[in-house]
Amino acid sequence: MKDGIIKLIPIYIMGKRYEVPNGLTIQKALEYSGYKLTRGCGCRGGVCGACATIYRRKGEFRLNVGLACQTVVEPEIYLVQLPYTPANKALYTLKDLPPDDLNIALIYPELLRCMGCNTCTKSCPMNLEVMNYISATIRGDFKAVVELSIECVQCGLCAARCPAELAPFNIALLIRRLYGRHIVGESPQLKQRLEEIRAGKYKEKIDKLMKMDKSEVENIYKELQATKGAAV
Ligand code: SF4
Ligand code: SF4
Ligand code: FES
Repeated sequence: MKDGIIKLIPIYIMGKRYEVPNGLTIQKALEYSGYKLTRGCGCRGGVCGACATIYRRKGEFRLNVGLACQTVVEPEIYLVQLPYTPANKALYTLKDLPPDDLNIALIYPELLRCMGCNTCTKSCPMNLEVMNYISATIRGDFKAVVELSIECVQCGLCAARCPAELAPFNIALLIRRLYGRHIVGESPQLKQRLEEIRAGKYKEKIDKLMKMDKSEVENIYKELQATKGAAV
């Protein structure tokens, strides 16, 4: 922007041309262009994974992926949002499932189709080592899977691009659940806090909170965020 004049750039949303202010995120450009985001939009801050987007720059063959709330528009990009990737998500009963690699392969047999192409890693907007956590899954190193995938936002882009049709994010989710349920065990701090709540230690505060209206709760949240920000 120069002297208060906003520079408009052309972009293509689902094939239709729009002009939007330079510097907007894809998410804001969609809204500027009149799209009402009832799906494919959540936190607006890069943590919920709801806004997976595919785009291509004019003159290039490559399809790029990103989160709409984190990716800034460029002149003449062609984009479409993927509000949901209909990837396979197995059903299981966590407490009855022993945490071993054989079980994972029985639940997600497509796991063994991984050809080590690394497309998933290149597709991940969180820069996670997706292929490495899939390899760790196959060799039963669940701790490594947890550490490598803990920042996954479940956007589904790795699954959307995987040529072997794996859903890495759902496989890692299963491992993290198994790890928490069977390997790490119960947190003593959580157990203690739950006992305190049951014993009524926080009853007065909880009752007060339950009587507040939405704006009061929002103000408390904002104050907490400000305190956290000041502490960083
Ligand atoms: S994209 Fe699919 S096949 Fe390629 S490394 Fe990742 S999980 Fe394996
Ligand atoms: S691992 Fe897959 S689902 Fe998770 S953030 Fe990366 S691309 Fe998205
Ligand atoms: S809206 Fe939540 S990650 Fe983009």
